[in-house]
Amino acid sequence: MSGNSGIGSAKITGIGYYLPEKILTNFDLEKMVDTSDEWIVTRSGIRERRIAAEHEAASDLAYEAAKMAVEKAGIDIKDVDLIIVATVTPDMTLPSTACIIQEKLGAMKAAAFDLSAACSGFIYGVATAQSMIGIGHIKKAIVVGVEVLSRIVDWEDRATCVLFGDGAGAVVLEACEKGEGIIGTYMQSDGSLGELLYRPGGGTRLPFNEEMIRERQHYVKMKGDGLFKIAVRSMVDAAEKTLDEAGVKKKDIDYLIPHQANIRIIEGVRKRLKLEKEQVVVNIDRVGNTSSASIPIALGELNESGTLKKGDLVIMVAFGGGLTWGSILFRN
Ligand code: UT7
Repeated sequence: MSGNSGIGSAKITGIGYYLPEKILTNFDLEKMVDTSDEWIVTRSGIRERRIAAEHEAASDLAYEAAKMAVEKAGIDIKDVDLIIVATVTPDMTLPSTACIIQEKLGAMKAAAFDLSAACSGFIYGVATAQSMIGIGHIKKAIVVGVEVLSRIVDWEDRATCVLFGDGAGAVVLEACEKGEGIIGTYMQSDGSLGELLYRPGGGTRLPFNEEMIRERQHYVKMKGDGLFKIAVRSMVDAAEKTLDEAGVKKKDIDYLIPHQANIRIIEGVRKRLKLEKEQVVVNIDRVGNTSSASIPIALGELNESGTLKKGDLVIMVAFGGGLTWGSILFRN
């Protein structure tokens, strides 16, 4: 699903992110499972990741990121119409994490809901808010990507626990003229491949009980090699479709912000899009794979570094469980 067919569009006017303080290095992991810094770095590009403190839940991280985005945008929180929180690790099933941060932020005019699209969640959230703004339903939205994956990974499974981290990123979106701000969006899913990355237990199919927990079904399961093959292809496809639809050439892109799942996937996407290394935002070495939070954290860091300039053309591309993938093209 692609396009920007509304009467107007939305632009990003504030960016925020939050990383928990605790750093877990590959050397720490060597003491926990049968792995090595060398394996993790060469296979994934990850050196360390952040882990939420015991008292921190998804809404605490999301609140910090959203608060920073709102401050950067300089908007009155009372004017926010919509809050979308993309996450697969909400505080609880009910109420939504979006409603929890709505109250903390004091955005009492807003409608708030969570969105589940795994690592593509932030892209899906921005595309959803952009279309609601674009058709004129609302004027201001906050979109957050947040994960506390450390609570759902199996710390005895070396194939997954070395890859993931915790964090949050957020943007404020405000109405603008069509042709400014977000100029292209793309979302796609393939539900037939859900078992490549899933968490079987803890929902209504396999509710919490002793047997389910004993069989470790409440942890994330991943078929890494199966995902790897599809990741590059689908991210490049999403980027190309978004660019084509917007009538933008690859050579005009200033920055690519890819989902940070694996440095080899990022490199594959970069080469196929014919971009220079300097054009690709990479922080996987420091934060690992934070699923829906990965793109807004990378965007936040790019913005804070002062590198992102007004007028820059940026493409954000994600891929993840579901399967889901998608892309957002915007002019800063
Ligand atoms: O966020 C979006 C969704 N996620 C992704 O897109 C992830 C995509 N997949 C990947 O990033 C990569 O497939 C991984 C990083 C997960 C794995 O890299 P790989 O090159 O595909 O390795 P592999 O799964 O083929 O495993 C190679 C070997 C296996 O040993 P054998 O069977 O060849 O003897 C694994 O058991 O590496 C072993 N292995 C490890 N060894 C040391 C797996 N995990 C570890 C580990 N430390 N942590």
